Amino acid sequence: MTTLLSVEGVSKAFPGVKALDNVYLELRKGEVHVLLGENGAGKSTLMKILSGVYQADSGAIVYKGKPVQFKTATEALRAGIGIIYQELNLVPHLTVAQNIFIGKEPVKMGFTIDAARMNRDAVEILKRLNADIKPTALVKNIAVSKQQMVEVAKALSYNSDVLIMDEPTSALTEAEIEELFKVIKSLRAQGVGIIYISHRLEEIREIADRVTIFRDGQYVSTDDYGDLTLDEIVKRMVGREMAHKFPPKKHIPTDEVILEVRDVQRRGETEKASFTLHAGEILGVAGLMGAGRTELARAIFGADPKAGGEIFVNGARVTVDSPLDAIQAGIGYLSEDRKAYGLALNMRITDNITMAYLDEVSTRSGRILKHLEKGVSRRFVKSLDIKTPSISQVVKNLSGGNQQKVVIAKWLFRNARVLIFDEPTRGVDVGAKYAIYELMDGLAASGAGIIMISSELPEILGMSDRIMVMSQGRVAAIMNIEGATQEKILHHAAGLL
Ligand SMILES: Nc1ncnc2c1ncn2[C@@H]1O[C@H](COP(=O)(O)OP(=O)(O)OP(=O)(O)O)[C@@H](O)[C@H]1O
Ligand SMILES: [Mg+2]
Repeated sequence: MTTLLSVEGVSKAFPGVKALDNVYLELRKGEVHVLLGENGAGKSTLMKILSGVYQADSGAIVYKGKPVQFKTATEALRAGIGIIYQELNLVPHLTVAQNIFIGKEPVKMGFTIDAARMNRDAVEILKRLNADIKPTALVKNIAVSKQQMVEVAKALSYNSDVLIMDEPTSALTEAEIEELFKVIKSLRAQGVGIIYISHRLEEIREIADRVTIFRDGQYVSTDDYGDLTLDEIVKRMVGREMAHKFPPKKHIPTDEVILEVRDVQRRGETEKASFTLHAGEILGVAGLMGAGRTELARAIFGADPKAGGEIFVNGARVTVDSPLDAIQAGIGYLSEDRKAYGLALNMRITDNITMAYLDEVSTRSGRILKHLEKGVSRRFVKSLDIKTPSISQVVKNLSGGNQQKVVIAKWLFRNARVLIFDEPTRGVDVGAKYAIYELMDGLAASGAGIIMISSELPEILGMSDRIMVMSQGRVAAIMNIEGATQEKILHHAAGLL
């Protein structure tokens, strides 16, 4: 087995944070090397060093036998190291093909871009991915999952020797994940070395050759995947035994209906949906990707237009034509795409937490009271265990999972009683997942009602009181947790009943 790339004792600090402290990683030709660690463990930071975005403070990177230090991402790419970033990195107003070939567009007659050839080449690459995406579509007009496939296509277009994938499946459908895995396997067979980062511990079973684990910026271990059990992996990641996946249930659903949705329909996307949500209840919403769960949630929240229907909060009819209406009615929505809807990435943690409820930290004349703002932020950073050197940290500098916690803090602060959590644990590590479950349980115990959209059936079964299954835009079933099984849910989700 030839070593392609090795990381030898690399360290990297940011102001107030030691992101990497003397870490090691060895990538061989033709292997899928999975890198695991909790949120903030330093995974993405190392990948950004390997791909020239950041420079290491100390330590060495040896690539194909020679020490290297890439100064820019382009330099790394040209040397054969491709990366798919955790945050999508596409230009929204350019086409799919333009994004794939950005910076290396084929030219004709020396100076004009050969658009026809570019589109043809794009089709070729997308075909390898089995992705049904038009090369001429604007990236902003295609679904997040498709955008992620475009990222993969872009990385493939460089014929890289090393391909880094930082949570590539976080927005993909099951079918798309399968296609991606096929591509990964065929690249591996061609000798490409792949570094694969994911929080979905179940999925790596299919592709992992070796596993390296980091914890809090430090190197823990490297093993053949076959030599590890899932329990052992989790233990090494979090540094302690995790006996239970779900916290003991403290909340008890009451009879009080806090939300009633009557015949609400997302124009053109879903059929009429009716259901109730009780105080103290967690209503799990299951379904396959594309079943219309997010669309329905967004219609309820006023983020997408409704084609009729009524919404009642605490028994009173409310008009929700915009997210602002929803917020005022006491409905909070934690979006699955937190980058686009939940967070102001260039603002501080404090601004993000208080922005939906500035009144609470301002004088009557609208002046923000810094000490209140800070107090609130400190409280949430502590209670949600947000890993950050300070509450003034700009949100984009937080690790992916910690950004998720900031969005949750924002809605908690807003005292929303009806909370819609759309894939709340996506991209969140096992330890933080448990913390989010505890939090949801606690919120419900204190009288909130939670709608939890999730694609992970164990999570649906572990947390819900009732389960609503959606299939092809309609509510296919609503069932009590007693007697619910994975099989039953899948049956409804597939539209078989
Ligand atoms: N540009 C930056 N400025 C300041 N701090 C940063 C920056 N980038 C990362 N950090 C910090 O470095 C630490 C490691 O972050 P990193 O993004 O590498 O974690 P990660 O393992 O990828 O986590 P996740 O699984 O949540 O994506 C975190 O504490 C993060 O807040
Ligand atoms: Mg990361």
